[in-house]
Amino acid sequence: MKKNVIITGTSTGVGFESAILFANNGFKVYATMRDLKKADTLKSKIKTDNLDIEILSLDVTNIESINLALDTIINQDGKIDILVNNAGAGFAKTTEQSSIEEIKWVTEVNYLGAVYCTKAALPFMRKQKTGQIISITSIGGLVGQPFNELYCGAKFGVEGFMEGLATYVSDAFNIKITCVEPGGIATEFMTSAIGKTVVEGQLSTGEYLPIFERYMAGNQKRAKEGKEQVYQTALEVAEVILNVAKMEKPPLRVRTSKWAEKFCELKTQADPDGTKIVNQIKESFL
Ligand SMILES: NC(=O)c1ccc[n+]([C@@H]2O[C@H](COP(=O)([O-])OP(=O)(O)OC[C@H]3O[C@@H](n4cnc5c(N)ncnc54)[C@H](OP(=O)(O)O)[C@@H]3O)[C@@H](O)[C@H]2O)c1
Repeated sequence: MKKNVIITGTSTGVGFESAILFANNGFKVYATMRDLKKADTLKSKIKTDNLDIEILSLDVTNIESINLALDTIINQDGKIDILVNNAGAGFAKTTEQSSIEEIKWVTEVNYLGAVYCTKAALPFMRKQKTGQIISITSIGGLVGQPFNELYCGAKFGVEGFMEGLATYVSDAFNIKITCVEPGGIATEFMTSAIGKTVVEGQLSTGEYLPIFERYMAGNQKRAKEGKEQVYQTALEVAEVILNVAKMEKPPLRVRTSKWAEKFCELKTQADPDGTKIVNQIKESFL
């Protein structure tokens, strides 16, 4: 029987490319998305390339929809081999100017969504005594950045959550745990996050405006100067995820580009892939 993989957020970007790439590499793919109206492009790709992909509805902020999708997979295959927590959303706004609703939303989509999906998948993987959880975090899960503190905080949360799991579920139940940490990806992600900020006029007044303008100018300069180094394609990130899925002993942390590696170096140089810290914690506590 083929290995199966459930991927969240497959309507666009990394999730979309990962679904196709995994299917082309012999996996049975459960491509999930919160809005099935966005499935047309993937559906036509499945048809033309005859891909083993089944599209399921799953909103990572809705526990019922997560359980329903996982039950469907268990009823069909009797197992869940790999969970890819990919769904996420960019958010660029100061804490002061974000509403409580926005703060809850950015945390739920980017942090709690990964926790909810992992919590739902763990009982099956524990009983199977095998499984793999891959969360797409970000360099923003290692390094805080201006106007991104709420997004970064959520991604730091995923990093801490995954690190904690890696200290015991891997040895006890053979469940592999990895954070995939991209830098910039050429998707609609950041453009729409920054666009939203400007369109909504949240920064059009006040003491934050000059700082925001410096930030935007710096972003544009960096993008122009080093477009090739800074930005990867969604497919390139999907290739890193597939590589992690194929590893016998994947590490806790994987950056997806040289630029991402360099960007995080001060935080990661003592223990680039997280192996040392996981071992140290295991020795101290277990
Ligand atoms: N793009 C970057 O520069 C960048 C950098 C570092 C890390 N990342 C991370 O990489 C991952 C993929 O991002 P991407 O670049 O591929 O962005 P993207 O093209 O915007 O894709 C994000 C996906 O998440 C889905 N999603 C959002 N809220 C959801 C929810 N409540 N339930 C289920 N799905 C939901 C979106 O669905 P809808 O179409 O319905 O909104 C979309 O399919 C994210 O975790 C992101 O944080 C991105």
